[in-house]
Amino acid sequence: MTVICGFKTPQDILFLEDIGRWKKTMDVILTVDCAEEDTACHVGLVTEFISKIDLEDPEKTAAIVVGPPAMMHFSTQGLLGIGISEENLWVSQERKMCCGLGKCGHCRIGDTYVCLDGPVFNYKSTKAMID
Ligand code: FES
Repeated sequence: MTVICGFKTPQDILFLEDIGRWKKTMDVILTVDCAEEDTACHVGLVTEFISKIDLEDPEKTAAIVVGPPAMMHFSTQGLLGIGISEENLWVSQERKMCCGLGKCGHCRIGDTYVCLDGPVFNYKSTKAMID
């Protein structure tokens, strides 16, 4: 399993304790948009590292994308570009949620309520929902 986590700066990195644990069993790529000093993580956008993932069999690989709209758009395109199928690609739309109860309508995209019908959706059935 590979996890790519992107942050704005090294000071913004969250879940350091969890990331330390994950590194024992997974490939974890930490990246920041910018860093003034030498840092233990990469500098660059998450999307730059997708093509560097070494996949044995892309057709049997699943990917999950969580993040802001631009990152979601370019990450899904990058993952499709390395051979992951639309059926094995999942996206989270939870950032659109407010009440989480199906009452406020803030999360509504067309006839879909993200809070009730998701928030994680298969890319193939919901690619039009990605901003
Ligand atoms: S978050 Fe309020 S209706 Fe879905």
